[in-house]
Amino acid sequence: ETEKPWGGRFSEPTDAFVEGFTASVNFDKRLYHHDIEGSIAHATMLAKVGVLTEMERDAIVQGLKDIRAEIERGEFQWSVKLEDVHMNIESALTARIGITGKKLHTGRSRNDQVATDVRLYLRDEIDTIAAELTRLQTGLIDLASREADTIMPGFTHLQTAQPVTFGHHLLAWNEMLQRDYERLIDSRKRVNILPLGAAALAGTTYPIDRLMTAELLGFERPTENSLDSVSDRDFAIEFCSFASLLLMHLSRMSEELVLWTSSQFNFINLPDRFCTGSSIMPQKKNPDVPELVRGKSGRVYGHLMSLLTLMKSQPLAYNKDNQEDKEPLFDAIDTVKGCLRAFADMVPAIEPRREVMHEAARRGFATATDLADYLVRKGVPFRDAHEIVGKSVAFGVAENRDLADMTLAELQQFSDIIGADVFEVLTLEGSVAARNHLGGTAPEQVRAAAVRARNLLRQR
Ligand code: ARG
Repeated sequence: ETEKPWGGRFSEPTDAFVEGFTASVNFDKRLYHHDIEGSIAHATMLAKVGVLTEMERDAIVQGLKDIRAEIERGEFQWSVKLEDVHMNIESALTARIGITGKKLHTGRSRNDQVATDVRLYLRDEIDTIAAELTRLQTGLIDLASREADTIMPGFTHLQTAQPVTFGHHLLAWNEMLQRDYERLIDSRKRVNILPLGAAALAGTTYPIDRLMTAELLGFERPTENSLDSVSDRDFAIEFCSFASLLLMHLSRMSEELVLWTSSQFNFINLPDRFCTGSSIMPQKKNPDVPELVRGKSGRVYGHLMSLLTLMKSQPLAYNKDNQEDKEPLFDAIDTVKGCLRAFADMVPAIEPRREVMHEAARRGFATATDLADYLVRKGVPFRDAHEIVGKSVAFGVAENRDLADMTLAELQQFSDIIGADVFEVLTLEGSVAARNHLGGTAPEQVRAAAVRARNLLRQR
């Protein structure tokens, strides 16, 4: 016999390397709060069905609360010999309250215990992340409303395409985040289900009341199948999949912020407090925050791939492989929280350089499509209009002048249908205002879209 909680059938101590190799306490101790919540609910249920006396329950509950306080004071001695958070806490409970502590694990296994702990933990983190996403979206929508009239070049192929409003561009970002939010909340439904009661894999012979435990822990319902309960990690994969899409979106926003802060674009300023400098080049102010967020997408995609591969081909039911679910999940959670916090703080502080954006849109023949549409309205077939405008642009490129800077006579070289009213459509303001339909870039539409987006936040 060894000193392990499972040592009864063993005749020699665990190999010293194996002990460290198989232990998870160094990373799963972050589950301590939820492990204790789960144990308190389990003990409460066991007392209700008569497996524990009320005195035993009270001693266990008090002991667990004292251990939690000790952990929070930083005084708890974690031991790698006790393998994981579950056995560390259970062993501390017995040291504290005596043999009653040994009754806590009745009708339970670490297999359903860990599955419960991770779900409880992730549920809380999802709620924190949802609130942080809402904070980011709020800042984004506010900025978008302030910038509903600001004109910038819109791009395809990173080449100037057509003028858009800066507010419209920001609300495009918000749409991405809105979908991420919905995915997160949808995945929460599948997190919020209680595996406890599955025990090791087959259920337990005690008259447990899983509905009661589920209710005590705020779960929607207990799981349906004990084998699935201890082996399902889909919910962690779903979280990493949400996180990957979110980080992909944040990386796209980051990329644009990096471009826009460059002196080549110069569309925005990020306040100094979100930037860092160079140790050699005195002039430098680098957009490190968006760059780092862009880079962090890589580790989160990696975690998604780790978990998918971890679960691939695993036979039912619990396998020790599953201990490997925690580090990727935890790091994905930490990374998402860090990136969201950085973005939620930074986005409201973005300082647009409106004249620079306006000038950039003016330089890139951004109203060429408007001129073609003008010709079509005067009866020219679209393909011919395209050709006429193409020639006008070629002239502008050679002369280094935008369409709006040409004289009427110059424009009429390419089509005598062009009249003096053409200059109304060649202005950037006229161009964006004309795209005045649901989902369009007109300032009026941006203001209405911002109201709708804010309403969605209010319904959360
Ligand atoms: N530390 C383990 C994990 O993270 C807890 C469950 C261990 N169960 C077992 N039978 N070895 O998955």
